[in-house]
Amino acid sequence: MKKIVSFSIIFVFCVLLSYGCNSKQQALSERGGIWAVYDRECRKCHKVNGNGSIVGRLIYKMPNFTNTKWQDNVSDSRLIISVANGKGKMPGYKGKLKDEEIVDLVKTCVRSYYQPQEQ
Ligand code: HEC
Repeated sequence: MKKIVSFSIIFVFCVLLSYGCNSKQQALSERGGIWAVYDRECRKCHKVNGNGSIVGRLIYKMPNFTNTKWQDNVSDSRLIISVANGKGKMPGYKGKLKDEEIVDLVKTCVRSYYQPQEQ
């Protein structure tokens, strides 16, 4: 009996958790414009909050877009080239997406995670 109770608690917890994540994910394409493309092509790896998840960072060398130091050290042109040609475990998007979309993804989406600390 005790087991059933704890299983149902875990089940309800999981349902709530996945609902919470989904509602956050929907909010992303609601931003409109290029975010629909990020949602479709990039979110599965780089995640809604751009941090690439701990597992992605540890295993796939995924950058954390919310890391100010990382943002400060990478130029737009480098990021655009990486997304176009692919890098490491990331596929290239040249030909799959329009050039303007790749530029927009970097300048709008990736850079939106840049949150410098205000002094
Ligand atoms: C299959 C998972 C995957 C998908 C899908 C993916 N990425 Fe990546 N991305 C990665 C990984 C892994 C890296 C780290 C590559 C490395 O440095 O080895 C990366 C790196 C990057 C970088 C940093 C490149 C650099 O020069 O350091 C940017 C910017 C980026 N991705 C943007 C995007 C955008 C925009 C999309 C959607 C069009 C996208 N990614 C889709 C896995 C993915």
